[in-house]
Amino acid sequence: MATTLKPVVLGNRTLDVPIIQGGMGIGVSLHRLSSAVMREGGMGVISAAQPGYRESDFYQNSLQANLRALTHEIALAKSMSEGKGMLGVNVMVAGKQHKEIWEFLNTQPIDAIISGAGLPLDLPQIVTNPAILLAPIVSSGKAARLIMSVWEKRTQRLPDFIVIEGPLAGGHLGISKEEIAKGNLPELHEILRDVIDVVRPVEERIGRKIPIFCAGGVYTHQDIVDLIEQGSDGVQMATRFIATHECDAHMNFKQTLLDANQEDIVYTISPVGLPGRGVNTPFVAALNGELRRATRCVNCLTPCNPLATPYCITEALITSVSGDPQHGLVFTGSNGYRLDKIVSVHELMDELKGEQR
Ligand SMILES: Cc1cc2nc3c(=O)[nH]c(=O)nc-3n(C[C@H](O)[C@H](O)[C@H](O)COP(=O)(O)O)c2cc1C
Repeated sequence: MATTLKPVVLGNRTLDVPIIQGGMGIGVSLHRLSSAVMREGGMGVISAAQPGYRESDFYQNSLQANLRALTHEIALAKSMSEGKGMLGVNVMVAGKQHKEIWEFLNTQPIDAIISGAGLPLDLPQIVTNPAILLAPIVSSGKAARLIMSVWEKRTQRLPDFIVIEGPLAGGHLGISKEEIAKGNLPELHEILRDVIDVVRPVEERIGRKIPIFCAGGVYTHQDIVDLIEQGSDGVQMATRFIATHECDAHMNFKQTLLDANQEDIVYTISPVGLPGRGVNTPFVAALNGELRRATRCVNCLTPCNPLATPYCITEALITSVSGDPQHGLVFTGSNGYRLDKIVSVHELMDELKGEQR
């Protein structure tokens, strides 16, 4: 029988539906998708990975273009949310502009900042606005312990909630090429157990909960119920939200996933140094061994050396999100091949809540 999911308390607010729509750059989760999730009582998340890609000065001054676009996207998401749900912004630590973006977000009318793709150790020193909830994304109990200890030592602040991302997620993954080659990757519920072991003693000491949201391969209502039974407070999901009318990507991007089979979903190399997961588009297939020199650079990722990178990830993601996925990169979680139709966020959230009739 369908179980109704319970609300979760985050800081001094309540998230009615314990589902966070994961941030998806570049341009896949902006105001349309995030506001639709908010209207259903979940947390909508705008990705701060190059939101200014359509601004005319993006290639001259990407930071200004990104901050201008973020201001706009946040204002639209808030006004379209009908006062429901919560609004988060996802900022990747691997992004060169992440500190400037955190500083900018400190004064924005948002509910939360969620940061991963690296350790967000400086986040609470830069975002000091107590109205903004701070959440790291971790892929192990060890990372959760390190972040909590550094945050507490430097600022007496602890995470307001934690997102755990397991190896079935989309986008950049928190696992190394070597770990993939060895196989034997930890399952999401195993990482959850490790993180719970790290978090529970801290919760007992401070007398408040640090809610945990599990991400990576969560697909059905039953998946959510199972993770909650294992101690998670909610989930973060991204791939399923791509196959919605409201997802901000071009229809051709969504169609690439609708057309994909299981064997089309592959590990991709990324200038970040970490592997990613995406669809084996002709662009990705041709990357095997071939170098595509970047012709212009917006200085996006700290670990990227434009002279040595196999391709420009910003160009590849902009190409696909703008409507030409065969010549670009389409990130997806491991379950992307299961998507078979486009639905509204309302229909998807009803299904995930177990309220589908
Ligand atoms: C298209 C796409 C883009 C993503 N972009 C980002 C990003 O910019 N920053 C980030 O932290 N995670 C990113 N992710 C990861 C998601 O936020 C999410 O945690 C993960 O995909 C969850 O797994 P699922 O897709 O199986 O639900 C991306 C995922 C996808 C599918």
